[in-house]
Amino acid sequence: MASPHDDLLQVLSAYMSPILARSVLSRSLRRCGLTPGTLERTELRRVAQALETGSRLFVDPGKLAQLQEQLRRLSDPAEDIRPVDLPIHDEDDIGEARRASWSLCDQMGADRFARQKLTTIVSELARNLVHYAREGRLQIRIEPEAKRAYVTSTDSGPGIPNLEEIMSGRYRSKTGLGAGLRGIKRLSLKFDIDTKESGTRVEAEVQL
Ligand SMILES: Nc1ncnc2c1ncn2[C@@H]1O[C@H](COP(=O)(O)OP(=O)(O)OP(=O)(O)O)[C@@H](O)[C@H]1O
Ligand SMILES: [Mg+2]
Repeated sequence: MASPHDDLLQVLSAYMSPILARSVLSRSLRRCGLTPGTLERTELRRVAQALETGSRLFVDPGKLAQLQEQLRRLSDPAEDIRPVDLPIHDEDDIGEARRASWSLCDQMGADRFARQKLTTIVSELARNLVHYAREGRLQIRIEPEAKRAYVTSTDSGPGIPNLEEIMSGRYRSKTGLGAGLRGIKRLSLKFDIDTKESGTRVEAEVQL
C-alpha cells in the first residue's frame, strides 16, 4: 500500500504540476513539524487541514472544493463511500451512470486512467442494458482500502446465446463494434458473465 505521503502527492498532482505539488506538500508538512519520512496515517487529518490552506493559491478556484473533499477522504478513510444502484432504461440513465462512476472516482481520489477505465466499463454495460435488454440495473460498490470497484449489471432481457463467440472475438456486431464485453474483460481484474434466456448478470472487478 502506498505511504500517506505518496497518497497526498497523488491527490495534489491532479490539481497542479508534480513539482509544485511536492513543494506545497513539503511546506505544509514543515508547518506541522513533520517530514515525508515521519508522516504517519494518524497525522493525515492535521496535514490535510494545512494543505487546504497551503494549496489554495495554486488551485483553480472552481476545483478547490473537490480537492478539499479528497483530502478529507484521505484523512478519514473509515468513512464509507456509498454504493450506487441505478435503474437503467434510456440514454439519460447511461449519462447518470457515467456521472456516478466519475463521482465515485473523485471520492476515491482515483487518477485519470482509473477514472477512464471505470467509466468505460460502466458506460458499456449501461449501453448494453438499454440496447439489448431494454432495461436493467447497474450497481457500483467501492472498497476504498483495496482501491477496488465492483460493478454489477443485471437484467431480465433475452440473454446472450452466442457468448462464447463474442468473447473469443469471432463475433461481428450489427449494432456496434462488438468490442464492449471483450473490452470490459480486458480492463477488469476479474470478469464474470452469467447469462440465460431469463436474463444476464455481468460482474467486473476493477483496480482504481
Ligand atoms: N445485457 C445484454 N442482454 C442481451 N444481449 C446482450 C447484452 N449485452 C450484450 N449483448 C449481446 O452481445 C453482443 C456483444 O456485446 P458487446 O457489448 O460486446 O458489443 P456490441 O454492443 O455489439 O458493440 P459495442 O459495445 O462495441 O458497441 C451484442 O451485440 C448483443 O447481441
Ligand atoms: Mg456493447
